[in-house]
Amino acid sequence: MDVSSDAANIRDPMSRAPRYLLTSYGCQMNKLDSELVESRLTAAGYERAEGESDADVVLLNTCSVRQHAEDRVWSRLGVLRQLKREKPGLVVGVLGCMAEEHQRYIRARMPHVDLVVGPSAFGDIDEKVETLRARGSDEEPGDGVVAVGHGVSGDTIRRDVRVRPHRSQAYVNVMRGCNMPCSYCIVPATRGQEISRPIADIVEEVERLCDDGVSEVTLLGQTVNAYGRDLGRDVTLARLLRALHEIPALRRIAFITSHPNFLSAELIDALAELPRVSRYLHLPAQSGSNAVLKAMRRGYTAERYRTRVEQLRARAPDIELHSDWIVGYPGETDEDFAATVALMEEIRFAQSYVFKYSPRPGTLAADVVDDVPDAVKAERNRILNEVQERHTVARNQEFVGCVQEILVEGPSKVAGRLTGRTVHHRIVHFDSTDERLAGRYVPVRILEALGHSLLGEQLAEDHAEVGA
Ligand code: 5AD
Ligand code: SF4
Repeated sequence: MDVSSDAANIRDPMSRAPRYLLTSYGCQMNKLDSELVESRLTAAGYERAEGESDADVVLLNTCSVRQHAEDRVWSRLGVLRQLKREKPGLVVGVLGCMAEEHQRYIRARMPHVDLVVGPSAFGDIDEKVETLRARGSDEEPGDGVVAVGHGVSGDTIRRDVRVRPHRSQAYVNVMRGCNMPCSYCIVPATRGQEISRPIADIVEEVERLCDDGVSEVTLLGQTVNAYGRDLGRDVTLARLLRALHEIPALRRIAFITSHPNFLSAELIDALAELPRVSRYLHLPAQSGSNAVLKAMRRGYTAERYRTRVEQLRARAPDIELHSDWIVGYPGETDEDFAATVALMEEIRFAQSYVFKYSPRPGTLAADVVDDVPDAVKAERNRILNEVQERHTVARNQEFVGCVQEILVEGPSKVAGRLTGRTVHHRIVHFDSTDERLAGRYVPVRILEALGHSLLGEQLAEDHAEVGA
C-alpha cells in the first residue's frame, strides 16, 4: 500500500482506519497519560496497530527519571529513523518527560521526529497528529509540531472512562507536577508545579468510572498526600478519601506516591477510619542517613521518618509500607549506607524499589561529582534488595493459613490459574479456569508463600472470616 496517501484514509470510508502504536515508559502517571492519548486517538477514528510495520503513527511516551529509561528511548528512536526512511509518511512522536527535557536536542538532531509533546500538553494530541498526517510526506523534515511548557493540563479535557486496561480497576490523576526540591529529581522540571484537581471533579470522574464497572481506583500524584495545598486549607487528601468513600460501588481506594513530610495526623486518621482505603502506603524513605537525606533535600531525618511510621502504626497497624531507595548518592559512605540498611531492617517494608543514583542534568545534584563508583552502587543495590527480599518472604509466610479477599485480575501465567490482589496489593494465584471471575472479589485461603507472590485456594463466596 502507498503510505504517502495515508493522510486521506481517515476521511475515506472505503480504506482502513489509520493505526497508531504507542509505547509507554516510566511511572504510572505516564501510563495514565498514555490512556488519555489513546482515548483521544480512538475518538478521532484511529485504531491500535499490531506493530511498527502496520503503524501510521508511532508514539513514545517517555521517562527522564534515570539515564537507563532515556537510553531505551534513544535507541528506539535510532530504529525509527530507519523505519521512517522506508515509510516517509510515518508520523513519529516523542511525548512525555523527555519531550519536555530534550525538546531542543530532538528538534535539532532528529529530523525524523515529527511531534514533540510534553506531559502538560496532551489535550489535543489527536489534532496535532492529524495536522501532521494531512501534511503528507513531501514536507521539509524537521517541520513538525512542538508543544511543551506547563500550565496546560491534560485533565482539563473530560476523560473517556471507557479507555482503560482493566475492567474493574482504574488510575485517576488527582494532581500534576511537583513542588518539592529533591536534589536528584528531574520531575519538577519535566512536569512543572503542582496543580490539584478540585474534589468535585475527581468524585465525578470516579462515579463515572464506577458506573462503567470500576470498583478499585488508584489516585495518582507525584506527592499525592500533598494534594490540595494549591486549592486552599480545606482541600486535603484525607478529605478527598472521605468523599470517595461515600461512593457505594467503590470497594478499594489506593493512592501513590506519598511524601513523608505530608503524612499528617488527619491523613493517618482517615487511613485508620476508612476501611475501603487500601492497606498499603508507598512512602519512599530514599535513604536512612541524615547526611544523605540532607544533601538530597528531602526535608526530614531518619528519626522523623521513624516517628511518622510509629504514629501511623499506632493508629492503623494493618497498613503495610512500601519504599523507594537511592543507593550511591554523591558522597554516600559505607556508614551512610549502613544507616539505610538499618532503617530498612527496622521498619520492615513489604516492598521496596532500589535504584542506583543516576545524575540528571539540570538537577541540583548534577553539579556535585557522581563519586560513588558504579561497582559500589551495584553492590549496595544488591545488598538492599537482599534485605528486602528477606522481609518480603517473611511477611508473605505470615499470610499462610489466612483468608484474604482477592480482586481477581485474570489468568495467571501458569495455565489453569487465576491471579488477583489483596487489599495490601499482594499478588495471589489460585487454581481456577473460570475467567468470569475477573473483576470479582473472592475469598481465598493462602496455602503457600512463593517469594514475591502467594498461592491460595478459592473458598465459597459467602466465606466470612477474611483477615490476616
Ligand atoms: N537517580 C536514581 N533514582 C532516582 N529516582 C528519582 N530520581 C532519581 C535519580 N536521579 C528514584 C526515586 C524516586 C523513584 C521514582 O525514582 O527513588 O522515588
Ligand atoms: Fe519518569 Fe518522573 Fe516523568 Fe514519571 S514523572 S515519567 S517517573 S520522569
